[in-house]
Amino acid sequence: MSTSPRPSPTLSQLVRTKPVEQSIADTHEPEHALRRTLSALDLTVFGVGVIIGTGIFVLTGTAAKNTAGPAVALSFAAAGVVCALAALCYAELASTVPVAGSAYTFAYTTIGELPAWIIGWDLVLELALGAAVVSVGWSGYVQSLLDSAGWALPYAISGADTDGWSFNLPAALLVLLLTAVILLGMHLSAEVTRVIVAIKVTAVLIVIVAGLFYVKADNYTPFIPDAVPVGHESGGKAPLIQVLFGYTPSDFGVMGIFTAAAVVFFAFIGFDIVATTAEETRNPQRDMPRGILGSLFICTVLYMAVSVVVTGMQKYTELSSDAPLSDAFKSVGADVFADIIDVGAVAGLTSVTMIMLMGQSRVFFAMSRDGLLPRVFSTVHPRFKTPYRAVLMLGLVVTVLAGLIPLEELAELVNIGTLFAFVVVSIGVVVLRRTRPDLPRSFRCPWVPVLPVLSVAACLWLMLNLPVQTWWRFGAWLAAGLLVYFLYGRGHSRIGRRGTVAPPPAGTVR
Ligand code: ALA
Repeated sequence: MSTSPRPSPTLSQLVRTKPVEQSIADTHEPEHALRRTLSALDLTVFGVGVIIGTGIFVLTGTAAKNTAGPAVALSFAAAGVVCALAALCYAELASTVPVAGSAYTFAYTTIGELPAWIIGWDLVLELALGAAVVSVGWSGYVQSLLDSAGWALPYAISGADTDGWSFNLPAALLVLLLTAVILLGMHLSAEVTRVIVAIKVTAVLIVIVAGLFYVKADNYTPFIPDAVPVGHESGGKAPLIQVLFGYTPSDFGVMGIFTAAAVVFFAFIGFDIVATTAEETRNPQRDMPRGILGSLFICTVLYMAVSVVVTGMQKYTELSSDAPLSDAFKSVGADVFADIIDVGAVAGLTSVTMIMLMGQSRVFFAMSRDGLLPRVFSTVHPRFKTPYRAVLMLGLVVTVLAGLIPLEELAELVNIGTLFAFVVVSIGVVVLRRTRPDLPRSFRCPWVPVLPVLSVAACLWLMLNLPVQTWWRFGAWLAAGLLVYFLYGRGHSRIGRRGTVAPPPAGTVR
């Protein structure tokens, strides 16, 4: 612990930035160096592994049935466009600053330490909370498969809350198992992801190809059902935009397509997590943009095809809210396909949980290496070359969350946390272009600053569509983060302690 008196928190301290060269130099410290093994293909597989999950396997039904009708395919297209804007910004920063930590690291090199801390703290909502939420969804799917095989778990370990509290043992065990895989190294994680992605993409392709044979043209009429005015939601459930401006989102009609886009946005979350592995990529300058944009493109095409087919198989009013894809096959008597799709969904949610956990450990690692969290969490295991303490600690926390807490209504916090990170990264591109025009950029986001500004506006629009209570919870989480920063991070920041920043080591920017 330093005995020197702490300087007052002047604005310049709070917005001190970490030079790109320093960030890259830190990745070479022997105790804190991760192993570079990933290729562009691995990154794309990781992207698909974390993107395809609850969104397509579950939300498609709800969004079509309640808000968009068969036009839900257009909602996927709209959400895909919003994500593409942010993805172009991520691609530029991830290839220019190829350091673990993603949005946190980008914010530190562009806007400053306090905003970086806030975004790192915010990413917990996307990554750790997201992993817990998806593991609970996984548990639900597994239990429904077990139920149909005649094996029901005892209530006390099922995670159900219909008859009092119970522990979600399947979700907790899943997180523990995945923590072990992540701990044992990136190579193993990449192998496991490859197998899982093959299974889930096969399931998605089955939906598209086999489903085509059951499509009835009548089901597409009306393609955009007439708008239905929705009653004003009251209290915390009302969208912020309604409270602030009196605008009420409508169900169906053209505006319903955009309301549903805010729901299916969840299906796209994950392409940004690819950026957290920048430091473990062999040629990040070339491969980061390929991994981020490639996985997003593949998933957008698959999502649009799936939603067109499923709404053609079954009238949108009859789609199920729990397992719309497999239930659509059951509705036409093709139960074999339904079972295969359920297995694909279970596989799909497994890799989403794993890669979110992994992403969280890399953000935590980067924050710890910068001194904003205790430095012990950034020591790399001598053999596995993973930040094992961070992985273990987070694995245990997420296990407890997954096992103990009913998480469904916290899912919207995952959306707001992610969108906030997109906003900061989009701003970061513009700032870094101004402050460091000299940096070599192997990928340049087109039409800067127009495209990043559009990205910010689109993300803010989706955020405004989230309920007021989500905003309150988000605010409370960030306030807790500020407290931790002022109690710990500000005084332990390595950049702050160095006082001046080390000059750029020659040749460290590639
Ligand atoms: N995109 C991920 C999913 O849909 C988070 O599960």
